[in-house]
Amino acid sequence: MKIIVKKDYDSMSKEAAGIVRKEIEKKKDIVLGLATGSTPIGMYKELIRMHKEEGLDFSHVVSFNLDEYIGIDYDNPNSYHYYMKENLFDHINILKENTFIPDGNSDDLEESCRIYDKLIEEKGGIDLQILGIGANGHIGFNEPAEELNYGTSVVDLDDRTIKDNARFFNSIDEVPKKAITMGIGTIMKAKKIILMANGKNKAEAISKLIKGKKITTKLPATLLLLHPDVTVIVDEEAYSLGK
Ligand code: GLP
Repeated sequence: MKIIVKKDYDSMSKEAAGIVRKEIEKKKDIVLGLATGSTPIGMYKELIRMHKEEGLDFSHVVSFNLDEYIGIDYDNPNSYHYYMKENLFDHINILKENTFIPDGNSDDLEESCRIYDKLIEEKGGIDLQILGIGANGHIGFNEPAEELNYGTSVVDLDDRTIKDNARFFNSIDEVPKKAITMGIGTIMKAKKIILMANGKNKAEAISKLIKGKKITTKLPATLLLLHPDVTVIVDEEAYSLGK
């Protein structure tokens, strides 16, 4: 696991965008795994800038998002469908038909999970997966538990995640209690992974991850210690307990 510590959020975001850019330039039809949340917004801004000012081309790029809430309208600004349009897709030349996000409004959620994993395989697998991390160590919405799901699955959100994500909603009661997320196996099959974290709220989870002493489903990000190509990019605050 490679660890890159940057001074602040802005330089963390630029570092991550630089790696994404290099990978797109190496393989123009790259399959990206994309994350939502507050962490990757700066990276997406930088990728948009690279597209607009430097011609970074997304016309052959395929993307799969990590997760989506269940039972939220896609025109609700808190849905990850809305988030992706607003923060990336509407500002670059990616083709809509090449962007995939789990369908949290499907009549058959289990079937839609199965189809999602199949589609990722059909597109050749994820080349580069972007991850944030929950304060409780979750990746995607794979919450700390005795057992973790291998493939894309329907999951219950942890109380801490509901509390953390309430800041985006009018009230905590509006935060969905369930989501669809890529499973740990889906994530681990990605050829290359970047995990980003900023701020003090993430320091404890990051310290446990980068100290690298235990692998536990109680801190799902530690499963990444088993992956051969993970780069963790953090700001100084997220790294503050890591040394
Ligand atoms: C969210 C998402 C994750 C994200 C994490 C951290 O709930 N499901 O994919 O990485 O929690 O969010 P944030 O970046 O807002 O701190």
